[in-house]
Amino acid sequence: MFDEAPSDAWAIRFGDGAPAEADRLGRFFAHRSVRRFTPDPVPEALVRALIGAAQSAATSSNLQLWSVVTVQEASRRKRMAELCAGQGHVEGAAWFLAFVADHYRLRHALAGTQDEPDALGTTEMFTVSAIDAALAAERLVCAAESVGLGICYIGAMRNDPVGVAELLGLPHGTIGLFGLCLGWPDETKPAEIKPRLLPDEVWHRETYRTGSVAEYDERMAAFYESQGMDASIPWSRRSGRRTQHRGVGSRHAWGAILRERGFCTGDEEP
Ligand SMILES: Cc1cc2nc3c(=O)[nH]c(=O)nc-3n(C[C@H](O)[C@H](O)[C@H](O)COP(=O)(O)O)c2cc1C
Repeated sequence: MFDEAPSDAWAIRFGDGAPAEADRLGRFFAHRSVRRFTPDPVPEALVRALIGAAQSAATSSNLQLWSVVTVQEASRRKRMAELCAGQGHVEGAAWFLAFVADHYRLRHALAGTQDEPDALGTTEMFTVSAIDAALAAERLVCAAESVGLGICYIGAMRNDPVGVAELLGLPHGTIGLFGLCLGWPDETKPAEIKPRLLPDEVWHRETYRTGSVAEYDERMAAFYESQGMDASIPWSRRSGRRTQHRGVGSRHAWGAILRERGFCTGDEEP
């Protein structure tokens, strides 16, 4: 499944011809979020290997300021789905992985020593853990997709960070960043490759230059139509609407919740 040739996946993604080198990049262009899974199990040994792949990502100063908590027990998964806006794929995936920014492990390891990591309280250090967690997750995703698994990230795990912390037993100095559904894609309801902005729209050479998203709005309109969605509202307007409100649940209070959990409390004036 999802085995388009790289050049075909590129054409769907960008609507134009793939560069000559694209064929060397295997199935990297064929990602799509999968929200319908088969009930087939994903062996724990495979998940363990995938977590090792995640840990093989680069990590700032080798600090490894992230953790992952899997939620498998049925009633706890149901609760996680509730916390994530009731999304069915959170309950239906073979595995659910919660990626966590983790300053606790290092603080705990060094408690009472002369090397207590005081500067972990800066916003910079929260950013480090968020970047590290995202890099690790995406490496896990690439590894998972290479063996035919499907994934869907779950940002809705930030709707109720306190509820998530309770469910996962997260100590002070940790916070859930995003979830990941993992399982075998349901071939009877396949997900489609979603178009992206042209590479030249996101690739600025030497200095930033203002571009235009008009071409992408047009390609996305065709995609919306193919998906039975309202094609009259362009991607840019949809994106504007999505970023007009202050976020679902307590997302608008993310900064305050971060500080309550021990992050971003130690910044100094520039
Ligand atoms: C950090 C992050 C959070 C996301 N949160 C959700 C989510 O809560 N629910 C969902 O169904 N999809 C979620 N997605 C998937 C995006 O909607 C999806 O990646 C995007 O629409 C592009 O589609 P594609 O992944 O199929 O290319 C998330 C993706 C990312 C990277």
